[in-house]
Amino acid sequence: MTKPALLALASFTATIGALPGLAQTATPAAHHGQSPVLPETPEQKARLAWFKDARLGLFIHWGLYAIPAGQWPGRENTNRGEWIMLQEKIPSAEYEKLAGQFNPVKFDAKAWVGLAKAAGMKYLVVTAKHHDGFCLYDSKLTDYDIVDATPFRRDPLRELAAACREAGIVFCIYYSLPDWHHPEFPARYSMRDFHGAPNPQADVGRYADYMHAQIRELLTNYGPVGIVWFDGGGSFANADRGQLLRGEDLRRMINTLQPAALINNRGGIPADYGTPEQRIPGFMTGNAFEVCMTLNRHWGYNRFDQEWKSPATVVRNIADIVSKGGNYLLNVGPTAEGVIPEESVRILREVGTWTSLNAEAIYGAGPTPFGDELGYEDATRKDGKTGRPLWVDRNAWRCTTQPGRLYFHLLEWPAGESFTLPAFSNRVKRAYLLADRARELSATPGANGVTIKLPSRAPAALAPVLCVEIEGEVKPATRNDRPDTGKDTAS
Ligand code: GLC
Repeated sequence: MTKPALLALASFTATIGALPGLAQTATPAAHHGQSPVLPETPEQKARLAWFKDARLGLFIHWGLYAIPAGQWPGRENTNRGEWIMLQEKIPSAEYEKLAGQFNPVKFDAKAWVGLAKAAGMKYLVVTAKHHDGFCLYDSKLTDYDIVDATPFRRDPLRELAAACREAGIVFCIYYSLPDWHHPEFPARYSMRDFHGAPNPQADVGRYADYMHAQIRELLTNYGPVGIVWFDGGGSFANADRGQLLRGEDLRRMINTLQPAALINNRGGIPADYGTPEQRIPGFMTGNAFEVCMTLNRHWGYNRFDQEWKSPATVVRNIADIVSKGGNYLLNVGPTAEGVIPEESVRILREVGTWTSLNAEAIYGAGPTPFGDELGYEDATRKDGKTGRPLWVDRNAWRCTTQPGRLYFHLLEWPAGESFTLPAFSNRVKRAYLLADRARELSATPGANGVTIKLPSRAPAALAPVLCVEIEGEVKPATRNDRPDTGKDTAS
């Protein structure tokens, strides 16, 4: 976990007690060297529209690393994931052998996409190529891919793209800039100078040719692609990587081949949105953002990792993120047989019950007009190490909006059968819980704001959402424009 995350966690747990299932980064400290997010132009705003409405996406980390599933044979460490090749220093000649064993006969694109849909997700991002260089699609640029090098011989990307189109899910592609396998990727640009078969003559320019040609394949052969999700990872922490890889040409090519595609901020080139990882920004950011997060502690499948987030934690995170104007990209790491772990399925299905019941408070919903619930710096309490004011998270509720409506996500069921709304001057027309729409709740104006009378017991297990219909719109507080300060709430 990053330092700010730990700091936030300290103040967070001090306030409300320990929260189970918090994520930790299982891979080496990530230095993403994130690229600037472009100020939103009208053209970019239009391109971002579907993304901002979508709010939820499924991230899929799937590759050869699913075979060792957390532990390399004969090694002790059981905490590995998609970084196992680097962390265990496995030479390419040895790692490559995994391809001969990769035969995920249970892979069912429709089932995976069906799960995303059931969870209420609107897009899917799949690892076309991760840092280990193995391609999960039929690439003409290499034989190190699932069709040419494995007994499986099918192209999962093609099947996923088709299943997504059929289900109305936006298909998106993750592509790693670093490549520990390609002979032209110089070891010196990799974390710990690692390469599976280092080549002193490696020429990053030729690697850029390879990469451009692969992106061209991916944007030509798989129908519409919603996002090109680049990852520099900790493994290409070079400030000039955008230049080394001729990022501007790449950007132009993407814009030409798929003008509607968004580009995230890890490609070393100007981007459409930000990607906080395993953490939620403390405030709303000026730009679009997408929090990516694991469901347990690993991205790639790890058979030892049972530290699952509870559905309640996931729902709380959704409310928190949407109230800040962001998206949530939740990861699954399928097994080498092609199965999404049972526990992930269980969590996502339960989350789906909540998202379908409360859909209007999530999809296309705007951020909170208040901001006070998001947290604040407590100047009277300083962090022992940094001397900075402690971050206090207000966790009781989160607010999202639609025209004429405020949605209060009640993360804890209020005591005393009532909930006092934050101050605003609009008249309240009606109030009800989305879980029980027919039952109108009384709204009584008072000195501190309008109080809504609630039933004594919560109508649903996961964060009930209170809908308050109002006259006109609540004017947003100016603090909503604060930049991401790097402070985290739940993660
Ligand atoms: C981290 C991991 C990388 C993973 C990425 C997803 O950077 O190191 O393996 O793909 O997170 O955001």
